[in-house]
Amino acid sequence: MTSSLSPVTETVTLVPDANWWRQATFYQIYPRSFADANGDGIGDLRGIITRVPYLRQLGVDAVWLSPFYPSALADGGYDVDDYRDVDPRIGTLAEFDEMVTALHEAGIRIMVDIVPNHSSDRHVWFQEALAAPAGSPARERYIFRDGAGADGELPPTDWQSIFGGPAWTRVPDGQWYLHLFAKEQPDFNWDNDEVRADFRTTLRFWSDRGVDGFRVDAAHGLVKDLTEPLPSAAQMSATNVPGRNRLFDRDEVHDIYADWRRVFDQYTPPRIAVAEAWTDTAERRARYASPEGLGQAFNFDLLQAGFDAVQFRRIITENLALAAASGSSTTWVLSNHDVVRHPTRYGLIAGSAPGEAAEAAEAVDTAIMQVGGREWLLAGGPEDQLDRARGIRRARAATLLELALPGSAYLYQGEELGLHEVSEIPDDARQDPAFFRNKGVEVGRDGCRVPLPWTRGGSSFGFGDAGAHLPQPAWFADVSVEAEEADPDSTLSLYRAALRLRRELESEESLEWIETGRDDVLHFRRPNGWESITNFGTAPAPLPAGRVVLASAPGVRDLRGELPGETTVWLTPEG
Ligand code: NOJ
Ligand code: CA
Repeated sequence: MTSSLSPVTETVTLVPDANWWRQATFYQIYPRSFADANGDGIGDLRGIITRVPYLRQLGVDAVWLSPFYPSALADGGYDVDDYRDVDPRIGTLAEFDEMVTALHEAGIRIMVDIVPNHSSDRHVWFQEALAAPAGSPARERYIFRDGAGADGELPPTDWQSIFGGPAWTRVPDGQWYLHLFAKEQPDFNWDNDEVRADFRTTLRFWSDRGVDGFRVDAAHGLVKDLTEPLPSAAQMSATNVPGRNRLFDRDEVHDIYADWRRVFDQYTPPRIAVAEAWTDTAERRARYASPEGLGQAFNFDLLQAGFDAVQFRRIITENLALAAASGSSTTWVLSNHDVVRHPTRYGLIAGSAPGEAAEAAEAVDTAIMQVGGREWLLAGGPEDQLDRARGIRRARAATLLELALPGSAYLYQGEELGLHEVSEIPDDARQDPAFFRNKGVEVGRDGCRVPLPWTRGGSSFGFGDAGAHLPQPAWFADVSVEAEEADPDSTLSLYRAALRLRRELESEESLEWIETGRDDVLHFRRPNGWESITNFGTAPAPLPAGRVVLASAPGVRDLRGELPGETTVWLTPEG
């Protein structure tokens, strides 16, 4: 955090600082759903440019831009046709440059998503591979194998893709290709030197355009051991040894990131990266965060936890220790484009234990969303399953706790409005492959990807002049930017105040726990005296001495020495 918040019109000069990311607040933009400037129902780069003053007023340090590349959108843009271009429906390279300049002049850095595990099936290399014969160099850039069975009519293995259905798809000449995700997302062969060289070129391409860093998609998947005989899915899970799994988190993947680090370090300041890496243990995840590798890794532990003080404390302590050991800073995430938004998770009545949601879903003929081994029940209409007010109250408390922690915080667009998950999406409007490949059993991730409401009314609540590519619910009016800007108690006002204070109160990267005598109350102090205390329970708790600088609960004016339930308060030393 090298720039302090200045009036929204003044141009900021970003000071080159190799450590700018360590405690930065990142704001994730899912570009198709952020703001639509040309009125075709799809968010675009021009829309982002027009909202730079909004981002600046919000007080974020950096934007992470989800894929904006040419794509058939089989997986919301994570199926990339061309890594060095902009989807014409979203903008042009010239507009990309303009956006980078506008963000930088507002003191906001930019990180782009890079998707190295797989391309789209429309990528020129995959098209070449399809046109070329088995065993050709063009096929070597992907993972093609002959099938099993007398005529190769069966897939090489029984492996399932992450979105459901087989992980192999057959091509007309009879071979099969591997795709860990949708069939439109063929996996690259990272043993291939051309693949390695091409990604280095892509990293330089965006770095040369002023991009400050990269979010690395499925960073744990690139290197695979496909030595014959290939094991079955059951054999693989029975013999799993961290680091030696055939498909994920193999030790050799770090050679790739060491190579990328050499590219990053050629820039001033060095380009940064954060890994999306799902590993068996938190220790193995920390390897991706090494300064010789990507430098930072997402820690999704809070996102998978309930609103529970014991879990929060354990997760915070563990991740701060891991970050210190790896030399990185940790990352906190409560929501992103892949999960049910946190106000909804915290307000859902059912669905906390695996299995429980599935049973309930069957009973009421509804659908479930799976997040990290847990299931969340999503009803046709939210009201019967959801205590909305409680969900928001808890989400605000969790967010304020998150923003007081050492390390960087990754926010997801719309969470500053306290948006709930949108569950009212008809089946025929859904887009997520997880919905289709699971035949609707999982509703998928569209509910957190609905275009943002900027105004109370209008054809798409100010998102654009036309409609929105996913339907917006009527309740968006009251949680629009326009509605919340006018309300000092709104979630938007809370985020703005919190982010302003977070800059002012910036402290060294550690904390000290203060015992509260209650299992459901967490209290910690940062080295500069800034304190955060959260009551996860419902019974009020005593409020410690200090000057209250912010409280998460709406409408709280005078606390009278008491910390209400499901509330976080920030304190600074008296005097
Ligand atoms: C993780 C991304 O966050 C998700 O949206 C995507 O579907 C998969 N990786 C595959 O690229
Ligand atoms: Ca548009």
